[in-house]
Amino acid sequence: MDARGGDTLLEGKAVVVTGAGRGLGEAFAVHAARAGAAVVVNDVDADLAEATAANIRHHGGRAVASGHDVRDPEHAEDLVGLCTTSFGAIDGLVNNAAVNHEALPWEDDVARVRTLVETNVLGVLYTGMAAARSMVDAGRGGSIVNISSGASLGQRKLGAYAASKGAVASLTYSWALDMEEAGIRVNAVCPLAHTRMVWTSERALRGCPPDRTPSRIAPVVLYLLGDGSAGITGQLVRCNGPQLHIVGQPYLKAPILEREVWDTDGVHRAFEEVFGAHLEPYGLEKRVPPRLRKWISAAGA
Ligand SMILES: NC(=O)c1ccc[n+]([C@@H]2O[C@H](COP(=O)([O-])OP(=O)(O)OC[C@H]3O[C@@H](n4cnc5c(N)ncnc54)[C@H](O)[C@@H]3O)[C@@H](O)[C@H]2O)c1
Repeated sequence: MDARGGDTLLEGKAVVVTGAGRGLGEAFAVHAARAGAAVVVNDVDADLAEATAANIRHHGGRAVASGHDVRDPEHAEDLVGLCTTSFGAIDGLVNNAAVNHEALPWEDDVARVRTLVETNVLGVLYTGMAAARSMVDAGRGGSIVNISSGASLGQRKLGAYAASKGAVASLTYSWALDMEEAGIRVNAVCPLAHTRMVWTSERALRGCPPDRTPSRIAPVVLYLLGDGSAGITGQLVRCNGPQLHIVGQPYLKAPILEREVWDTDGVHRAFEEVFGAHLEPYGLEKRVPPRLRKWISAAGA
């Protein structure tokens, strides 16, 4: 513990948190500062970013605000530049900024989908690429924490959002492979917390008990940013109230059948004779495919 009332987990580190004007990002920024980090508080809503940064400074922490828009690659570059000019380097990045909406695929709006993908996928790519460039140049490693979601496993009415968060998961695995040699770790966190994102969805609100505050997720992010998690990379970690667990990764499932060439008849027989018993329950709700249902419900017997 020190004068800020925090610990020293991130002492001497400079960290960028995107979308930190409210919600989870605000909690990550405030807790990182309390743990000793100098923080760039980014949010496209610049007033909110400044309010979070001012709050951190008021409590004795180090913070600067950024109103950069992560959808713009030049803004992403400047955001990382702000961290290096203000604090000398960038040691950590929390890729948190995102937007969300619910829609059935045939009712979704093209412009809204584009904005979502630009924010949730390209924003993470642009900011991560800029941060990685700076970290590799500085040669002192680093930690990137991408904020994904349990929705990446598939959820009704959340196709575009789920896909964007699945992209964040794939990016995490790929970048962890790319960056290990440079000493940069890349992990992802799937949170659940009361924020604007949850308040705007009746269904999400039903699934989010009132005690799920953003502050409850911050220790997971801080752990992954800190040196105590050395050797941990390429992981997707989910925190949902009292539950903390690793999210399993997609894999190539046995049996893997072999034919010189697969024709339609061969594929048909593969499903009839082999894969019928290996179909996967799908989506976060683990829905059993219709073909398998008759075998596991008494009604289908
Ligand atoms: N709240 C949950 O239960 C939950 C669950 C799973 C995943 N998540 C993820 O957690 C992260 C934080 O979400 P939240 O719930 O705090 O949402 P939120 O809407 O409260 O906060 C998101 C912040 O990102 C900012 N932002 C949006 N677009 C931006 C841009 N282009 N550039 C910079 N900032 C931008 C917004 O202004 C906002 O302040 C997101 O990645 C979200 O997908 C949240």
